Amino acid sequence: MSMLIRKERETRLRAMTLDDMEEVREVGQIAWSDLAMHDIGRKFRYPKRSERIIESYLATDPGGCIVAEMNGKIVGSAFCHVWGKVGWTGPLEVLPTYQDHGIGRMLLNVCETHLTERGCTTIGLETMSHLAKNLHFYLSSGYRPGPTTLIMEKVIRREALDSTGVREITRRDLDEGMEIVSKLSHAVNPQLDYAPEAASILSKALGNVFVIDDGEGPLGCALLHTYQRGEEAPYSSIKAVLVDPRTPEPRSVFDQLMSACETRSLEEGKTKLLTRFSPVDTRIYKVMLDRSYSLRGANLRMIKRGEYAEAGWCNITSWAG
Ligand SMILES: CC(C)(COP(=O)(O)OP(=O)(O)OC[C@H]1O[C@@H](n2cnc3c(N)ncnc32)[C@H](O)[C@@H]1OP(=O)(O)O)[C@@H](O)C(=O)NCCC(=O)NCCS
Repeated sequence: MSMLIRKERETRLRAMTLDDMEEVREVGQIAWSDLAMHDIGRKFRYPKRSERIIESYLATDPGGCIVAEMNGKIVGSAFCHVWGKVGWTGPLEVLPTYQDHGIGRMLLNVCETHLTERGCTTIGLETMSHLAKNLHFYLSSGYRPGPTTLIMEKVIRREALDSTGVREITRRDLDEGMEIVSKLSHAVNPQLDYAPEAASILSKALGNVFVIDDGEGPLGCALLHTYQRGEEAPYSSIKAVLVDPRTPEPRSVFDQLMSACETRSLEEGKTKLLTRFSPVDTRIYKVMLDRSYSLRGANLRMIKRGEYAEAGWCNITSWAG
């Protein structure tokens, strides 16, 4: 029997539990450190993924957190995310010594089945397009290339930032916050719903949810993650900025929401802010340069099923963790 078939037969996929936390964090650390070594040619030890973020994945979608086990040892893991009818997978990782034996593809297949069962009509992910292995892995699994997503970073300093029109949603206003975020998500793409992400930020204290309202309805919202404090690099990350495409001055709404994220990051003692988005309309790239963000890299969005396009040009969205 070939090594590949033997390893596939010995591999058991199951839902992750909290008891798997440490092993899953280690798998991620080892897989990404190994990838970095091959990619940049020198040793680099990746920080372990924050426990808090994995706990939030487990709380939001327990059936979408999958581990691959071989003889009682966790050798791979994958996480699914359901944002309305848009579903994506990530992170997905396999221990280097167990790679190239079909375990990654087994995990990916289970994720796709899970996302389909959860009603997702658009299924995709984001990956590093300069890695031949990753491109081959996803293309040969039926994923087609979508838009590029940019990774941009800003060093944040004390400066006067205007976010006067912005209101912060607190845990007490969770239902109201989710309703606003759903409404704005649907305005950007009818299939999209960032409400579960907003709920997880508020209920797990991962960061902040900001909204702008003109009294007649929401104009925009921003989801900020600051949870890494003490556990990882001094970064926060802007997970989403959604601006109602019918807003007459989207740039102004966007700027205020970005300022709110930057101000809060400073208050939390962060020195850098990271964000990912698709520059489908290049005006957004210019806006980010104006706000002193610099380009750090790019990923490729890959789509297995469905079509996906956003209304408006002042949005930040990414299918990556
Ligand atoms: C991506 C990853 C999860 C894949 O896991 P895996 O168990 O190795 O995946 P599989 O064995 O199912 O498939 C790997 C495929 O890549 C191919 N491959 C391996 N090295 C390659 C290379 N240098 N160039 C092109 N293809 C390559 C294998 O031949 C196999 O393809 P095949 O089934 O058509 O023969 C794993 O490599 C990993 O953990 N990488 C680090 C983290 C990462 O990049 N995660 C994905 C982020 S989006």
